[in-house]
Amino acid sequence: MAVPTPHINSKIGEIAKTVLMPGDPLRAKFIADTFLENPVLVNNVRGVQGHTGTWKGVPVTVMASGMGMPAIGIYSWELFSEYGVENIIRIGSCGALQDGQKLMDIVIGQAACCQGGYIDHFKMGGLYAPIADYTLLTAAVDAAKELGIGVTVGNILSSDNFYSPEGSNVNDKWRKMGILGIEMEAAALYANAAYHGKRALCICSVSDHIYREEYLSAEERQVGFTQMMEIALDTAVKMADI
Ligand code: HPA
Repeated sequence: MAVPTPHINSKIGEIAKTVLMPGDPLRAKFIADTFLENPVLVNNVRGVQGHTGTWKGVPVTVMASGMGMPAIGIYSWELFSEYGVENIIRIGSCGALQDGQKLMDIVIGQAACCQGGYIDHFKMGGLYAPIADYTLLTAAVDAAKELGIGVTVGNILSSDNFYSPEGSNVNDKWRKMGILGIEMEAAALYANAAYHGKRALCICSVSDHIYREEYLSAEERQVGFTQMMEIALDTAVKMADI
């Protein structure tokens, strides 16, 4: 593959070593405008915005992943394989499954189960367990502690389906196994990072509770995740010399 890649038209050097990936291109722009110093638009293919600037003097890129494992699979693959990216931190939303969880709680995916086809394409001959990079995970937990923000670390589920056709809903089983949140990207990101010898982490803010039918509005989702973004940005600073 050559640069620019099919889905990213940045030049080499325009994308930082650490990339923060929200699903939503508008959230990528919001983060860049709100937090980064001197943000520059480095990708806009298909409106999937990528902005590079600095946070506490450290270069950081914020680029959207789109929704679902095929989408984050494409962007993270091209970033890891062609743009020299070392760390990708997904900053997303998830639906909570456990009773003690509330909207806006922050969940860090220590591992990500996969309900979908993405991991099948690796043809492992057995069940592959997608996990977060331990260094990135501990850096994020340390950053959260320093910021005084509580987080829950545990297993999450990446699913291909947002809506469950009648008779297909197995949420009770995942809840029983202690899964903290359902989202749609982490397992593919973790597998791609492992495949390329890179690091990945998924941090999610709870946008809805699957068993209590509570949810945030689209606008609340876009602007309400400040704490999660601060954790991710400070994690990028901790990774600057690693
Ligand atoms: N399911 C899948 N992805 C999600 C959800 C959900 O309930 N909430 C936020 N992202």
